[in-house]
Amino acid sequence: MSIQLLNPTDEHFELIDDLIQAAFDRKAEAELVRKLRLNSNVYDPLLEYLILSNNTPVAHILYTHNRIIQGDFVHSVLVMAPVSVHPAFQRQGIGTRIITETLQDLADRNYEAVLVLGHAGFYPRFGFQSSTLWQIEAPFPVPEDAFMALELRPGSLSNKSGVLQYAEEFYSTVA
Ligand SMILES: CC(C)(COP(=O)(O)OP(=O)(O)OC[C@H]1O[C@@H](n2cnc3c(N)ncnc32)[C@H](O)[C@@H]1OP(=O)(O)O)[C@@H](O)C(=O)NCCC(=O)NCCS
Repeated sequence: MSIQLLNPTDEHFELIDDLIQAAFDRKAEAELVRKLRLNSNVYDPLLEYLILSNNTPVAHILYTHNRIIQGDFVHSVLVMAPVSVHPAFQRQGIGTRIITETLQDLADRNYEAVLVLGHAGFYPRFGFQSSTLWQIEAPFPVPEDAFMALELRPGSLSNKSGVLQYAEEFYSTVA
């Protein structure tokens, strides 16, 4: 089996759309990705990744630039969302692979930290911890252990307590 991790381009976007819809069994997350791509303040093509298995798209992940608001201060931070593995390929280690390899790529490129809202039983294996550790809050009520953060550079989140302000596309797309 040939597995390839790449930054997708226009030619992949329709297939990615199908992949995300299949993973979530609804359209909202695919629509979110389409909208985020149009916002150059938050989207960087080098922060979108796709895994092809024998040339078939099987996993996708997007990181975007968002902001932690701390009074008058604004800190830039990456948010990982959404993460999608095609249902036919789930529970075979592909999700672990795309998350591990892309976090390493971000660390290599000197990004400092990543936030994620997701399954508390899944993300801690990659080093994510409850964001309450750094007093970073979600902008809406969430189960405490579902909102998590990872320092790619140790200490990078110290003194960055505050409230995450997602890019507006998150509020207008995903219920
Ligand atoms: C969550 C997801 C990305 C995991 O990818 P994957 O390729 O299936 O995961 P892997 O095979 O690498 O790892 C499997 C592990 O993920 C865990 N996992 C998968 N789906 C999960 C879920 N919904 N809740 C909690 N854990 C989950 C499994 O329990 C398994 O854990 P184990 O190793 O302790 O048994 C994938 O299942 C998916 O795309 N789901 C639908 C979309 C989604 O929920 N995205 C994430 C939003 S936070």
